[in-house]
Amino acid sequence: MKKSLGIRKCLFPAAGYGTRFLPATKAMPKEMLPIVNKPLIQYGVEEALEAGMTQIGFIVGRGKRAIADHFDNNYELEHQIKGTSKEKYLDDIRNVMDSCDFVFMRQREMLGLGHAILTGEPMIGTEPFAVILADDLCAAPTEEDDMKALGQLAALYQRYQCSIIAIEEVPMEDTASYGIISGEEIADGIYQVRDMVEKPNPEDAPTNMAIIGRYILTPEIFDYLRKTKPGANGEIQITDALRALAQDRQVLAVKFKGRRFDCGSVEGFIEATNYYYENSYKSK
Ligand code: G1P
Repeated sequence: MKKSLGIRKCLFPAAGYGTRFLPATKAMPKEMLPIVNKPLIQYGVEEALEAGMTQIGFIVGRGKRAIADHFDNNYELEHQIKGTSKEKYLDDIRNVMDSCDFVFMRQREMLGLGHAILTGEPMIGTEPFAVILADDLCAAPTEEDDMKALGQLAALYQRYQCSIIAIEEVPMEDTASYGIISGEEIADGIYQVRDMVEKPNPEDAPTNMAIIGRYILTPEIFDYLRKTKPGANGEIQITDALRALAQDRQVLAVKFKGRRFDCGSVEGFIEATNYYYENSYKSK
């Protein structure tokens, strides 16, 4: 684990159905789909741990018990492979389990990402916290030692002490899949957010700077979420709450370094699989 960057808690909204991966996701949470041999959600938790966060909160819905089992002991299996050459395959998950505490909160109704984050309030309390959307898989810029996206945001939080979101430029025709921001560049790749809009059509999008699933949020976001009305898709959107926050306080958007795969789409999932097979799995 790297040195602490001051933020201890990270939320993982994980209540969605994963319809794009049916039938694979009929009886299995989409967060458990593996990129090579590791479930998507574990990559996310490892990224949080690398950024110094050890209090991990999952916002889950029905049918997500496999996530809880994944981060728990499996005595039968461990007994079976103890002392064999296969034990090494458990190294990464054991490290995560030994380093983190896990909290599970149930989102009873699927009312949107903003609502999922609000469901996490009892675990967060009044401290700044992170959010990872595990569908967005972020690889380090170059060597394994480099910080991935969340670590980069957490390091910036130390300096700016405000809510910070990760962004990436996307093709203009894809804006309707993302939250889109506009703002002033105040330092290299760092924007002071002026406006943000959830899933605009290209003709309505202010820019092509898309929000990626990594956020550092200050706790006043909960008050804004409580006041947020349903927006795009009739859901309570974190983007709308952040837009309101940006009117009152500083909110930054940062072009993070490294590669990001949209594992919520089949194409992105395959790209990530090939990338991790070549760059991580094969070289082990
Ligand atoms: C969510 C957010 C959106 C963001 C995206 C990143 O949308 O609402 O602002 O750009 O994640 O992946 P979703 O992909 O869950 O529809």
